[in-house]
Amino acid sequence: MSIITIATSKGGAGKTTLAQVIGGRVAEKGYRVAVIDADYNHSLSSWLRNFGTYPITVEFELDETKIIPLAERLGETHDLVVIDTAGAATQATVFAIGCADLVLIPCQLSSADIVEASKTSQLVQSAEAMTRQEIVARVVLTDYQPKTIISGHVEEELEACGLKVLRTRLHRLVAFKEMTFSGKVPKSGLASELVDCMLDDIARLGALPFATMKFAS
Ligand SMILES: Nc1ncnc2c1ncn2[C@@H]1O[C@H](COP(=O)(O)OP(=O)(O)O)[C@@H](O)[C@H]1O
Ligand SMILES: [Mg+2]
Repeated sequence: MSIITIATSKGGAGKTTLAQVIGGRVAEKGYRVAVIDADYNHSLSSWLRNFGTYPITVEFELDETKIIPLAERLGETHDLVVIDTAGAATQATVFAIGCADLVLIPCQLSSADIVEASKTSQLVQSAEAMTRQEIVARVVLTDYQPKTIISGHVEEELEACGLKVLRTRLHRLVAFKEMTFSGKVPKSGLASELVDCMLDDIARLGALPFATMKFAS
């Protein structure tokens, strides 16, 4: 079992999108997935419940004292627990970070995204100090526009802040927006390939319930 927490204090950075593609794709492959929606907007839990595409256990929990026991309980019967957090550093986010095997910090191509990614990374470091355990964290560049001056600039800034970036970037693609209406993670085209590559990166970090995997079908 592993726990992946998706966090950044920047709203609209792509947290729920990441939770959807990771949770949906891993469930599609036959693994037992649970999500904890710790965002008062209910975006992830509504998406999963309204469409019912994936056999994913969905829990909505804002109470910071209940996040870790809930994640542990779900971990007993699931291969992967994904925690989606609110667009502000809440207490629930701190605990969701503290119990994670991997923290993913989505970041779009803006200054505010970098500032909040950096703050979130500091939160991860505080949680590491508190738990006396290493917590692996990676920035995920999303809504990404390759080969633009801004993309190069953002990558330089992230490096200057000492933030580690996941190899796969999720490009700005309409398929990721269509997903919000279809309830389905893209299964063809570039969006699908990027999701598979990203999961491969995450597996290499040891945060998926399989040591090695070949996601691309
Ligand atoms: N790679 C992407 N390509 C296109 N649109 C994206 C991408 N990533 C996120 N979005 C869009 O950005 C908006 C905010 O994303 P969301 O995942 O809801 O952010 P958060 O959960 O951090 O508030 C949504 O409309 C989503 O569809
Ligand atoms: Mg969200």
